[in-house]
Amino acid sequence: MNKTPSKFEKLGLDFPYMIAPMVGLSHVAFRDLIKTYTPPNIKPLRFTEMLSTRRLPSERLDSSRELKISEGEDFFVPQILGNEEHFIRPSIEKLSKLAPWGFDINMGCPQSHILKHNWGVRLVGDAHYAAQVVGHVKKSTNLPVSVKLRGGADKDTDLDYLMNFTKILEDAGLDWLTIHPRPRSAAHHEGAANWNIAAEIARARRIPVVVNGDLQTAADAVHVVGELGCDGAMIARAATVRPWILWQIAYLLDPKSTPTSFDSRTLPLDTKAEGKEYFRSFLTFIELLLKHFGDNEYSLQKARFFAATGSRWFLFGHSFWRLTMKAKTLLELWDRVSEHAQKSSGEMSERITL
Ligand SMILES: Cc1cc2nc3c(=O)[nH]c(=O)nc-3n(C[C@H](O)[C@H](O)[C@H](O)COP(=O)(O)O)c2cc1C
Repeated sequence: MNKTPSKFEKLGLDFPYMIAPMVGLSHVAFRDLIKTYTPPNIKPLRFTEMLSTRRLPSERLDSSRELKISEGEDFFVPQILGNEEHFIRPSIEKLSKLAPWGFDINMGCPQSHILKHNWGVRLVGDAHYAAQVVGHVKKSTNLPVSVKLRGGADKDTDLDYLMNFTKILEDAGLDWLTIHPRPRSAAHHEGAANWNIAAEIARARRIPVVVNGDLQTAADAVHVVGELGCDGAMIARAATVRPWILWQIAYLLDPKSTPTSFDSRTLPLDTKAEGKEYFRSFLTFIELLLKHFGDNEYSLQKARFFAATGSRWFLFGHSFWRLTMKAKTLLELWDRVSEHAQKSSGEMSERITL
């Protein structure tokens, strides 16, 4: 007997674990790094950084660094920021040429320059306005359209408010959504996320509801879907220290069909193995930055930001980050990281306080 397809399978996605949009981090080199650790039996979504619809219409696909994708890249989701139809339509038209899997609308950014325009998390404060924005995007594409939102606007993580808000978006034709259940007041994403809020909303909605926030290990991600009942899990910062986290999730869910090694990579299954693999992955990341952007200040900044985010899981992470600050070129950084890897014990924590 055939089993009933999950809400996500109806949208053509059978692995509902994914990597979040992060400005300054979710560029093509990072998405490629994740791909390096994605075994062939899974097809997870990877998001771009948020892209402003005010800028997109005048940007060039062949020269904008933020719009760069790798050859044949699939299962990526551009995240857009904005609310005006006359900017959204040409933005979606342009991005459609890259053949993305779908489009996401940012309703979570709490930065003040974003709020000034009523973008980002401000949209969560007005459900009917937010529904109109969903309508603009839906009219511009036949691909799945999602929203990524914060736990709440001024009402913080108010469950009744979010129930109503997500119902209005569902009725407006939204295909799926992600909830980051941390209030807007946690501007720097600190503190624990309340995964149960997302799970309650997932139970009430017909469309898939993905949870994001403080998911640091494969076990966390499997727990929120398998035990709490969310329809999917989105990992952000932990993917900068564990670019193999999706592979670990696949293995945890189905060890029989998930390889433990492929393309000269071996799945790290404990923090000791992870600590060692981190430096290897960092070297690969540098190579990918070189390939996509060249050896320049832009690439160096991306490497340093990646180090600053991921090295927090390491006991001596700060000294690793300082090392990345000293290098003047990517090639020099490659040498320094390679040398550091020989000496470092690579001791890393499973979870940290985010
Ligand atoms: C450096 C950085 C940049 C981010 N940029 C975006 C963004 O462009 N769009 C978005 O929706 N969320 C963005 N976020 C929020 C993350 O997607 C995610 O919701 C948040 O980090 C919580 O998940 P985590 O606890 O797994 O890190 C960003 C977070 C960080 C740390």
